[in-house]
Amino acid sequence: MAALAFLCAALWLLGVSSPQSGAQGDLVQRGRALYEDGCSSCHGLDARGIAGRAPSLRGVGEQAADFYLSTGRMPLDRPGAQPVRGEPAYPPDEIRALVAFVGSFGGPRIPVADPARGNIAEGRELFTENCAGCHQVVGEGGMVTRASVPDLKQATPRQVAEAVRLGPYLMPPFSARQLDQGQLDSVARYVQYTKEPEDRGGWGIGHLGPIPEGMVAWLLGLVALVLTIRLIGERTTE
Ligand code: HEC
Ligand code: HEC
Repeated sequence: MAALAFLCAALWLLGVSSPQSGAQGDLVQRGRALYEDGCSSCHGLDARGIAGRAPSLRGVGEQAADFYLSTGRMPLDRPGAQPVRGEPAYPPDEIRALVAFVGSFGGPRIPVADPARGNIAEGRELFTENCAGCHQVVGEGGMVTRASVPDLKQATPRQVAEAVRLGPYLMPPFSARQLDQGQLDSVARYVQYTKEPEDRGGWGIGHLGPIPEGMVAWLLGLVALVLTIRLIGERTTE
């Protein structure tokens, strides 16, 4: 009797959940086909990795898959190269399918960062402390030993969240204990802010900040002074 009730419950659950898991299942199937074509030669047909070529993707989750695909880092040209940012090799719907396939082995979901909830001053402080050593204070990139550090001009808030949590290549990952969600929002806000330096106010002479703006004011003052002196000069010669 109990077994029968259990069976009915199981069938009912199956019936209820099948439409949704069916759509998800289709996406995973589509992802699997794309994966076999474009990724399995390095990561293995079973996604367990191939020694000397590429690591296992079991457990890296949607987080890593979405970051590496949306920034065009994967598929890699050749094993051993540093993955670098480029045009994504797949359109968004195929990326979603590949992400679903990699995610079907478990692992972290796609993290989020909401710049609107962040605070620029806090973000600047956290960025200076945790990121600028490699990415420089204005987020323009540079070099660390054995790796080129990208500028962050193209990184979306979601990609910032993904990079922070997973730590691609030689970048260290930051756990929620090191940077909580609110701090991550602030860092993402600051990164967005560094992309629009002309919004720092002033007269749009740009990137160089308050000193040249001060110089412009000073020059204008000088011109006014010279004009005044000439006016006074003309009066006194009359
Ligand atoms: C030419 C070989 C090659 C191909 C093709 C390739 N990868 Fe990779 N992949 C690598 C290597 C090597 C790494 C490790 C990179 C590193 O050292 O940071 C990697 C890393 C990754 C990671 C990060 C894993 C982690 O531990 O965080 C993901 C996700 C990934 N690949 C997904 C893909 C997907 C999806 C495809 C197909 C669209 C693909 N790769 C195609 C070689 C390859
Ligand atoms: C030890 C040096 C180092 C530190 C510290 C570091 N990063 Fe990175 N970061 C890197 C490297 C190297 C890459 C490129 C990884 C790759 O090629 O796959 C990178 C990549 C990124 C990317 C991807 C950029 C893109 O457009 O594809 C983002 C976003 C990013 N870092 C943000 C941050 C933030 C935010 C912090 C601080 C919380 C930080 N990083 C701290 C070295 C560092």
